[in-house]
Amino acid sequence: MRILLVDDEPALRELLRATLESVDITVDEAASALEAETVMRRRKPDLVVLDLRMPGMSGAEFCAQLKEKPRTRDIPVVVLTAADPEDARSAQQAGAAAVVHKPFSPLELLAVVEGLAGRTPLSAPPRRKPRAGDEEEVVLYARDLRHLLEIERTQRRLLEDSYLETVTALAIALESKDGATRAHSQRVQRYAAELLEAIAPGTTSDHTYEYGFLLHDIGKIGIPDSILLKPGPLSRAERKRMQTHTVIGEQMLAGVAVLRGEGLRIVRSHHERWDGRGYPDGIAGDDVPLGARVFAVADALDAMTSNRPYRRALTWRAAHAEILAQSGKQFDPDVVDAFREREPSLVEVKRELAAA
Ligand SMILES: [Fe+2]
Repeated sequence: MRILLVDDEPALRELLRATLESVDITVDEAASALEAETVMRRRKPDLVVLDLRMPGMSGAEFCAQLKEKPRTRDIPVVVLTAADPEDARSAQQAGAAAVVHKPFSPLELLAVVEGLAGRTPLSAPPRRKPRAGDEEEVVLYARDLRHLLEIERTQRRLLEDSYLETVTALAIALESKDGATRAHSQRVQRYAAELLEAIAPGTTSDHTYEYGFLLHDIGKIGIPDSILLKPGPLSRAERKRMQTHTVIGEQMLAGVAVLRGEGLRIVRSHHERWDGRGYPDGIAGDDVPLGARVFAVADALDAMTSNRPYRRALTWRAAHAEILAQSGKQFDPDVVDAFREREPSLVEVKRELAAA
């Protein structure tokens, strides 16, 4: 879309150019009606934005002239004018498609322009009566900027939500193959988030942990079904093969930006143990990434308190005792302390998800 901007104030043209170009509108400028005629001979615009009061030919005269000529008759004209009813009347008589009163916010003008062009208008901030000291375009522009930032923030949130939904769908797809349930990944993720918040407050705002918790077992895609779905116990070689799901998962997700850092470490190290007897690296203590240490407790808690095809769930009390017994062995003692501290919330999570 191409717009011709006719106004004798260079600063206002600059402001409007910046606004219009931000939504991919091409802008030609003219400082007077005479200059506008020259520009239009070279390139016909789709729409003209015209200041009413200009030196030389007035905006109303120029608009009337455009409406008389067959070549330019169909081009919509938006007239900019001070809040003078007489001016608005003369603009309408001259055939203007819309009148925008000064001072206006650039987004208000943009909404009018996009409406006339049949595009879906970007939502304009609500029109407010100008107050004393509010008359400058730049003040209105600052308000626009705030409004745009709000829109941007909402869009970013939507984008983050859709990432999370996609990742969740992927985790569920994997679990359906594995025989686990949708509730498993949700419970483990919520338990882990609760424990992480207790042990490192504020960390959960970093979504990479959340993605790591959800996708920890994604590497199982690379394990043959004959091993993954084998009903009986695995042979030593099969167990070794199964354990590679940690490294396969890490390799699969290495290029995914939202998992970079801790998320990827969770995927690789979620079967490590505090005492160093885990896999794939056999690292111990603080060498095991925090997210993986937290995940280990969350995953064990859910495994013990859920029914599996080959055994019934333990009671919460029995799972509690087992987690405490593994403090300093399988689990980081600090995470076990966090488990005791947050136990009422964890029970609540289980109840809430069971009800859902
Ligand atoms: Fe795993």
